[in-house]
Amino acid sequence: MAITPTSDKVPPPFSLVIFGASGDLTRRKLIPAVYSLYRQQLLPQHFAVIGFARRDKSDDDFRAEMARAIREFVPVPPTGDLELADFTAHLHYHRSNFQDPQGYRSLRQRLEKCSPATDSPGNCLFYLATQPADFPEIVRQLSRVDLCQCGDTPKRWSRVIVEKPFGRDLFSARELNAQLRQSFEENQIFRIDHFLGKETVQNLFVLRFANTIFEPIWNHRYIDHVQITVSETLGLEGRGAFYEQTGALRDIVQNHLMHLLSLVAMEPPVSLDADAVRDEKVSVLKALRPTPLCMVRAQYAAGTVRDQPVCGYREEPGVDPRSQTETFVALKVMIDNWRWSGVPFYLRTGKRMPVRITEIDIYFKAVPRVLFNVRNTMVPNCLAIRIQPREGIALQFQAKPPGHVKDIQPCRLFFNYTDAFGMTPPDAYERLLLDAAFGDATLFTRSDEVEAAWKFLQPIVAESADSNRAPLPLYPAGSWGPPQADDLIETDGRKWQLTKMPPHK
Ligand SMILES: NC(=O)c1ccc[n+]([C@@H]2O[C@H](COP(=O)([O-])OP(=O)(O)OC[C@H]3O[C@@H](n4cnc5c(N)ncnc54)[C@H](OP(=O)(O)O)[C@@H]3O)[C@@H](O)[C@H]2O)c1
Repeated sequence: MAITPTSDKVPPPFSLVIFGASGDLTRRKLIPAVYSLYRQQLLPQHFAVIGFARRDKSDDDFRAEMARAIREFVPVPPTGDLELADFTAHLHYHRSNFQDPQGYRSLRQRLEKCSPATDSPGNCLFYLATQPADFPEIVRQLSRVDLCQCGDTPKRWSRVIVEKPFGRDLFSARELNAQLRQSFEENQIFRIDHFLGKETVQNLFVLRFANTIFEPIWNHRYIDHVQITVSETLGLEGRGAFYEQTGALRDIVQNHLMHLLSLVAMEPPVSLDADAVRDEKVSVLKALRPTPLCMVRAQYAAGTVRDQPVCGYREEPGVDPRSQTETFVALKVMIDNWRWSGVPFYLRTGKRMPVRITEIDIYFKAVPRVLFNVRNTMVPNCLAIRIQPREGIALQFQAKPPGHVKDIQPCRLFFNYTDAFGMTPPDAYERLLLDAAFGDATLFTRSDEVEAAWKFLQPIVAESADSNRAPLPLYPAGSWGPPQADDLIETDGRKWQLTKMPPHK
C-alpha cells in the first residue's frame, strides 16, 4: 500500500501512453517524473513512453523537446547528454487525432513493437493528460481496438489514469464514471489528484495512525476546530479559458481540500488496503453537513503580490470582463459523526494570495482558567501540518520563561522533513506514476469518493450558477480574501491563522 514505504522492486515491463503529449502537463510534470524514476532505477528495463497528440513531429523532435523539459523542470539536472539520450531512447511520438480510429489501430501496432512479448501490446498504462471533454472519446476508441480489456490478469494489465477535474458537478461526474466503466473495471481506473502524491499528505496518515499520542485526543473532546488553507500567489498563467470553466470550487475545493479534510477526519482503516483506506475517506465525505450560508466566494481585483503590481481577474487574457467565476472560497463545514460532533472545519483557498501555502492547523481546546492567573489570554495548543512549502510539523504549547516572571508564553517545537531525512521529498507525480504501474490505487480517488465530494458540493455549485445571485465580492490581489471571509470565522470567536515555519538548515 502506497502510504507506507513500498519495497524498492521495480514494476513489470509496461508502456506508458500519454494522450496530450504536447501539452503543458506532459512537459512540466509527467516526463520529468518518468525521468526521475528512471534515474533512481525504479523503472523496469523494458519500458516505453508513447506520446499521443495532434501536432506533426517525429520521434526525434519529441525526444529533443522532452530533453529540454527535463533540463528545465527536473530538480537535479541530468549529469550528461549520454544519460539523457539513454532515457529519451525510450520515448516515441504518435501523431493522431483523438477522434481518428486509424490512430488507435496504429497505436496498438506500436505497443506490440514496444512490448517485450512482441505478439501482444503488453502492459499498458494510459494517461489522459487532455481536456476532460476528450476522456470519453479516447476510452471508447481504446476499447474498439481491444486495449482496455482484461483488467489485471496474470498475463498483462491495462490501466487508465484520469486527470482532474473529474466532472463539473455531480451529474457530469456520474456520467463520466459510467462512460469509463463501459471500457474499464473500477480497479483499472486511477483518478489522479497530484496532491495525494505529496509526501506530507501521506505522512498525515502516518502521523495519525503510526503514533499513539495523537489518536486519543483526535476528537471533539480535545479539538476545538480545524483550519485548512490552500493558498496560491499565482494568477491564471495563461489558462484563463480553462479557469473560467472551473473556478476555485472545482479546481481546489472539490478535490484537494476534500482529500485533506477526509484524511484529517477519517477513522482508522481496518487495514492498509486501498479500499479499506478509501472506505473511511468516503464515510467522512458522506457525513459532511452542507452549510451553504457559511461560505464566501470572491474574485481578485488588481493589487500587489510580492511587491509586483498585478491585474484583476477580469483583466486576465481569456476571461470575460463580467466574469462571476470565483478565485477564492472560504467555507465552514461540520461533520455529522460521533468523533467530530460540534467541531467546525474552516477551509479556504484562493489565487493571488500573499503567500503560497498549504497547511492544516488543528486547534485544541483551551485549558480551564483556574491555575494560572496570567496577564495574556493563553494561546491554545495547535498542531500545524505544513504540506508545502517547507514541509513539516509544528506543535505549539505553553512554557514559562526563565526568571521571576509569572507569565506563560506560547512556544513551538518544529519538525522539518528536509532536515530530518536529508532530502527534499520527490515530486508527487513520481509517486503516483509508480503506484499506478504497481496497480496500487490507495492514493487515487475511487468513483464513490468523487461522487460523495460532488454530492456535498452540489447545492453550492447550483447556487453559484444561479444568475440571480448577488455579484461576487472582490478582494485586492495580495490580500487574504474579502472581509466576509474573516467574518465567517470571527463570528465564531476564532481567527484565520498560519504557523511560521523556520527555513531549512
Ligand atoms: N498543466 C497542469 O499543470 C495541470 C495540472 C493539473 C491537472 N491538469 C489537467 O491535465 C490535463 C491536460 O492539461 P494541459 O495543461 O497539459 O493541457 P494542454 O496544454 O491544453 O494540452 C492538451 C493536449 O491535448 C492534445 N489535443 C487536444 N485535442 C486533441 C485532439 N483532438 N487530438 C489529439 N490531441 C489533442 C494537444 O495536442 P496538440 O497541441 O498537438 O493539438 C495537447 O497535447 C487537463 O485535464 C488539466 O485540467 C493540468
